[in-house]
Amino acid sequence: MSAEHESGPTAAKQEIAPAKGKLGVMVVGLGAVATTMIAGVEAVRRGLAKPIGSLTQMGTIRLGKRTENKVPYVKDFVPLANLNDLVFTGWDIFEDNVYESAAHAAVLDKETLLALKPYLETIKPLPAVFDQYYVKRLHGTHVKKGKNKRDLADQLIEDIRNFKKTVDRVVMIWCGSTEIFLEPTAVHESIETFEKGLETSDIGIAPSQIYAYAALKEGVPFANGAPNLTVDTKALIELSKQNAAPICGKDFKTGQTFMKTVLAPAFKARHLGVRGWFSTNILGNRDGEVLDDPQSFKTKEESKLGSLEYIFQPELYPDLYKDLYHKIRINYYPPRGDDKEAWDNIDIFGWLGYPMQIKVNFLCRDSILAAPIALDLVLFLDLAKRTPGLRSIGIQEWLSFYLKAPQTAAGLYPEHDLFIQSMKLKNTLRHIMGESLITHLGLEYYD
Ligand SMILES: NC(=O)c1ccc[n+]([C@@H]2O[C@H](COP(=O)([O-])OP(=O)(O)OC[C@H]3O[C@@H](n4cnc5c(N)ncnc54)[C@H](O)[C@@H]3O)[C@@H](O)[C@H]2O)c1
Repeated sequence: MSAEHESGPTAAKQEIAPAKGKLGVMVVGLGAVATTMIAGVEAVRRGLAKPIGSLTQMGTIRLGKRTENKVPYVKDFVPLANLNDLVFTGWDIFEDNVYESAAHAAVLDKETLLALKPYLETIKPLPAVFDQYYVKRLHGTHVKKGKNKRDLADQLIEDIRNFKKTVDRVVMIWCGSTEIFLEPTAVHESIETFEKGLETSDIGIAPSQIYAYAALKEGVPFANGAPNLTVDTKALIELSKQNAAPICGKDFKTGQTFMKTVLAPAFKARHLGVRGWFSTNILGNRDGEVLDDPQSFKTKEESKLGSLEYIFQPELYPDLYKDLYHKIRINYYPPRGDDKEAWDNIDIFGWLGYPMQIKVNFLCRDSILAAPIALDLVLFLDLAKRTPGLRSIGIQEWLSFYLKAPQTAAGLYPEHDLFIQSMKLKNTLRHIMGESLITHLGLEYYD
């Protein structure tokens, strides 16, 4: 029995470049999520608060057998950038500095913001690449002008190069608004067609794609907190691989979808049927206002709908999930601000088909949930960039844990189950560090 270990195969430890010097974080869109992340990092640096919700800062990872008691912190196990070495900059369509924008978003209380004001005021947005065609509810004033989309991409590349002069490494993260629903077209087929499309200002290329192109062109990893198409195209996946600039999926998995990808796997594991899942949300922040536009809502809806279909696999379990009716609603309700309320009504059925109901009422704080996810994505993408076995593979599927719409290699279905995602993430860390993978078999304890 001794060959059957709870821990699986071990690969050689990779030559990961150390996280030396400053990590520059370029944030697209300095709104509620971004300012909550930046202010939060500064509060943690000053010892004013704890980085709750961040796996990189609070998480541990088990190594070896259960009897060995080796459970280091993730941040002590893999070489991550230290929070003290993060330097933030960003773009926005409004001129407000991070203090003003955070005050407007009203996620953090006045007292906390005042304590951080001198630092937050120093972060002023660069003029953005923006076109109202792609986000109907916003009227940007702090915006770059260019003769075509190629010219705008070049201006972003210039911004990145200037920032690079002041730091040692750079990661870009989209915390900007949700754009209208776009699907890949001929322009997204290859790097060449995409670059031609920039010249002709092809309508299929939204601002988020121009930022992503600029990042990947410069070898800068790119994360996407919104459900926009962005890097989910052949052209930008290719560019990501070519320039060793890691990418991952899209749309921070924070509130309702987070709960869905915990509950749905539980029903499936017990073979309980689900007839209907009605999800509704009210929220009153700027994100809610943008999502009030049907075309932006469609982008969000597509991203939120995918998880149940993949988790339940109705083609394998027609008796349990074939007729599932899944509906999602988001309503803009200004009095709520960032304090979203989500309701789920789940109609399940059990033994002999007897029906039951589950109600979930999540009174959450959107940006409080999203900020640590944004931070972790930044730190892990920087790690991926320094890791030989990860930097040139393009999509980092192991970061699906954080995202509503995971991105995968062509032909693979996305894994949405939060606990499979968490295992995948930790096994990836063990793998690059040359530690045994954990399989949970464990027969050796009963020899
Ligand atoms: N908060 C959450 O729980 C959560 C979860 C998943 C996804 N998201 C997504 O994250 C994004 C940010 O959310 P938020 O609550 O911070 O929204 P927000 O409206 O407060 O912030 C978005 C910011 O992006 C700016 N912006 C828009 N287009 C831009 C462009 N082209 N260039 C530069 N800046 C631009 C806006 O001016 C605004 O300041 C949204 O797309 C949202 O759907 C949020």
